[in-house]
Amino acid sequence: MKTIQIRTEIPGPKSRALVARKDAAIPRGPALVTPVCAAKAEAAWIEDLDGNRYLDFAGGIGCLNSGHRAPRVEKALREQVEKFLHVCFGVTPYESYVALAEKLNALAPISGPKKTMFINSGAEAVENAIKIARAYTKRPAVIAFEDAFHGRTLLTMSLTSKIVPYKAGFAPFAPEVYRVPYAYCYRCSYSKTYPSCEVYCAKHLEDTFRRVVDPNTVAAIIAEPVLGEGGFVVPPKEFFPILRQICNKYGIVLISDEIQSGIARTGTWFAIEHFGVEPDLITTAKSMGGGLPIGGVTGRAEIMDAPDPGGLGSTFAGNPMSCVAALAALETIEKDGLLERSTVIGKRFVERVNGWKKKYSVIGEVRALGGMCAFELVKDAETREPASAATKELAKYAYEHGVITITAGTLGNVMRILVPLVVTDEQFDEAMDVLEAGLTHVTVKKEPVASHA
Ligand SMILES: Cc1ncc(COP(=O)(O)O)c(C=O)c1O
Repeated sequence: MKTIQIRTEIPGPKSRALVARKDAAIPRGPALVTPVCAAKAEAAWIEDLDGNRYLDFAGGIGCLNSGHRAPRVEKALREQVEKFLHVCFGVTPYESYVALAEKLNALAPISGPKKTMFINSGAEAVENAIKIARAYTKRPAVIAFEDAFHGRTLLTMSLTSKIVPYKAGFAPFAPEVYRVPYAYCYRCSYSKTYPSCEVYCAKHLEDTFRRVVDPNTVAAIIAEPVLGEGGFVVPPKEFFPILRQICNKYGIVLISDEIQSGIARTGTWFAIEHFGVEPDLITTAKSMGGGLPIGGVTGRAEIMDAPDPGGLGSTFAGNPMSCVAALAALETIEKDGLLERSTVIGKRFVERVNGWKKKYSVIGEVRALGGMCAFELVKDAETREPASAATKELAKYAYEHGVITITAGTLGNVMRILVPLVVTDEQFDEAMDVLEAGLTHVTVKKEPVASHA
């Protein structure tokens, strides 16, 4: 039986009524990408208020790698409710916070002693990673990348690249943030071509240190191993090793922001593992919580211990519900083989979309690292002019036909897949069929090339 069940026009009457109440009661800032309202969700599907059932390719923006209401997560939460909800870890500590820190220390691809602290969200994790790097190095500056997304708080918004909607109107920004191009080869900021470029973008940091900022004032380089909101861009294999060398040379802390790419999304616990490099600090959030809010910073113990006692924390940081949910989510990933599943999903995606690429000229590039997959839509394969309107239309077609998706990219022309890794092959194919029908709907099919054989 198909998972997708569409029973009403989309959005249905109950969703429409709730969205109208939302518009009246809530400001425009927290915007909606789909106008369908959730009533229930399980594994890889969501049911709306009108009884329509969707496959969830957004996963609450990458927070549900272990699935909606993963049974272990649900059980852990029910058991915790019977015990206590909030006591504040800084007042009367509890075991689940410690156990979760131990687990992340064991998983993080960093050698030597490690420590982990928890906070409430991804942005707070990034804020804390920068505070820790500054306390350790006693330096102020941070290098961030074009097309990076690190959050919406003052410092993380300053680290984020995209102007509209994340920065426009919100100046002044936090000082001492310096931005350099990422290795976005399909749209190289230096108009070079990989591999003949010899990863000029990474090497060019030496020039930044001559012309823009003194490396002896740089506390950290923060980078996503795969750009998330920036369009699921996978850098070439040399990019992170060069960043690592530069950090070693100048005593700079390398922060791998794994908030979207971590916790099994790319087929490894952390995406940086694909690049054979050890970062100094790793930020986590999203799928770590199995659906509950939590953020974390894991890193070399010596660096993590730099801030004085009381310098880090927050009232609800690492709250018990989130910690037990996170432990259960990590156990689910481990015991249910979701790392391997992520790789399989990625392969299935690439195979299918490469097939589409031959038929639909609108697909400019297919990108994937494990289950972190996307395709970029263009008006013209040569000019690579972004097809942002078609991308928006494709996302609309998808939810109207039972697949919840979210777009990405600074140019708004990337369709990304953040499906819960518990999705079955049948469900995955069902959703991909909808996306393909959507592509036909929004584009003109490439005429088959006449065969002269
Ligand atoms: C790489 C990355 N860093 C930081 C954040 C911010 O996380 P949050 O939305 O939980 O504050 C996000 C959110 O999408 C992200 O993808």
